[in-house]
Amino acid sequence: MESSPALSRIGLAGLAVMGQNLALNIAEKGFPISVYNRTTSKVDETVERAHTEGNLPLFGQYNPRDFVLSIERPRSVIILVKAGAPVDQTIAALSANGRGLLYLGMGVSGGEDGARHGPSLMPGGSHQAYTNVQDILHKVAAQVDDGPCVTYIGEGGSGNFVKMVHNGIEYGDMQLISEAYDVLKNVGGLTNEELGEIFSEWNRGELESFLVEITADIFRVKDDLADGFLVDKLLDKTGMKGTGKWTVQQAAELSVAAPTIAASLDCRYLSGLKEEREKAEEALKQAGFKEEIGSVTSGIDKKRLIDDVRQALYASKICSYAQGMNLLRAKSVEKGWNLNLGELARIWKGGCIIRAVFLDRIKNAYQRNQSLANLIVDPDFAKEMVQRQAAWRRVVGLAVAAGISTPGMCASLSYFDTYRRGRLPANLVQAQRDLFGAHTYERVDRPGAFHTEWTKLAQKSGSGVGALH
Ligand SMILES: *[C@@H]1O[C@H](CO)[C@@H](O)[C@H](O)[C@H]1NC(C)=O
Ligand SMILES: *[C@@H]1O[C@H](CO)[C@@H](O)[C@H](O)[C@H]1NC(C)=O
Repeated sequence: MESSPALSRIGLAGLAVMGQNLALNIAEKGFPISVYNRTTSKVDETVERAHTEGNLPLFGQYNPRDFVLSIERPRSVIILVKAGAPVDQTIAALSANGRGLLYLGMGVSGGEDGARHGPSLMPGGSHQAYTNVQDILHKVAAQVDDGPCVTYIGEGGSGNFVKMVHNGIEYGDMQLISEAYDVLKNVGGLTNEELGEIFSEWNRGELESFLVEITADIFRVKDDLADGFLVDKLLDKTGMKGTGKWTVQQAAELSVAAPTIAASLDCRYLSGLKEEREKAEEALKQAGFKEEIGSVTSGIDKKRLIDDVRQALYASKICSYAQGMNLLRAKSVEKGWNLNLGELARIWKGGCIIRAVFLDRIKNAYQRNQSLANLIVDPDFAKEMVQRQAAWRRVVGLAVAAGISTPGMCASLSYFDTYRRGRLPANLVQAQRDLFGAHTYERVDRPGAFHTEWTKLAQKSGSGVGALH
């Protein structure tokens, strides 16, 4: 009697770059996997890779029915196709009817390489579905000192939401790094070689992270088509796929201030206006604009500037992460997800694009105090902010004087200076609102809602005003 072939532990449909790499990763960890894609060449390609990358237990399937039947029960299938209609189409193709389906929406970060060798995974949705694949996810995810970079995030769309905010934070990190580069290059006069060295050095300290590491590498690459360094030849127009925009939209919806992430998004929009910017540069030159960089850079203490920029970058990052974390908490409260912010910081320590040593400190801050209102007021971070604020202000001040925009660092500093002040000029805004719209106001010294006839009273007491002139 012929025995039926052994069944796969899991299936994966959608064999674009991420799908292929994740499938190979799963197979490599010892879980037999079936793979499927409508385009059969994709299946062949993946099977071929599984063969050359070590005879991995990966099995190509060429129609939806065979694919589904080749997986052991309860059948778990990872669908890695474009968001929207393709997802619905794939689900329809794989299930005769929708009964008994459990859904898990999983954020995957780390790009191609992460998917292949260990990503950060953010699964949310059905807890039963998570339990069914937990052992696989734990092995496949990046591993750090305190465990695999995966945890059950929460119900509903929480996994995808957390991944979205991760990307918003990533926008902020990249913007802040580019500003550090701008200041070091244009105020400090650093060469690409020096920049490469500085970022490498930073990557050995508190700023140690994937993004700082790859930035150091970027400064070392020579142009292979012409003289000089490649980084100087790249068009200064940033692309984007939407996750930063969604993060800022969600922050606005939930009334959470996320100015650093918003500034990084705005900067991408402005970067896109390359031709307009070139014309503006010309128009302002003709109007008499003079670059102030020269007067600022003369006599600059390079060593001190470098150290100041490092501190400014670190402090700015803390504020940016504080914004992202507070956005996550606000959504968690709205949806009842019960997100564990310390765990989220932990699973970002490895695999993903924002992986960084300082995420361990963020994890600790939330473990010390689950209900921490803001990272800035955690005793450890508060101390770090205080230690760095002078350097931070020097960098932003220098940049402003030199006419070099640092929207991310400025947004973070303003966030810090607004959040830490017990009293803001919002009293004046309230007065204006009450004057023109009778919106009423509260007082600092007694309860209740008040309204004042501001204009009438001002006219009555206005007699003396002229004397001031
Ligand atoms: C298969 O591959 C094509 C092209 O790469 C892609 O558009 C499609 O969504 C894939 N997925 C499935 C499940 O067929
Ligand atoms: C935890 O944080 C909240 C909000 O920031 C604060 O009110 C509370 O005192 C903190 N608890 C401890 C034990 O530090």
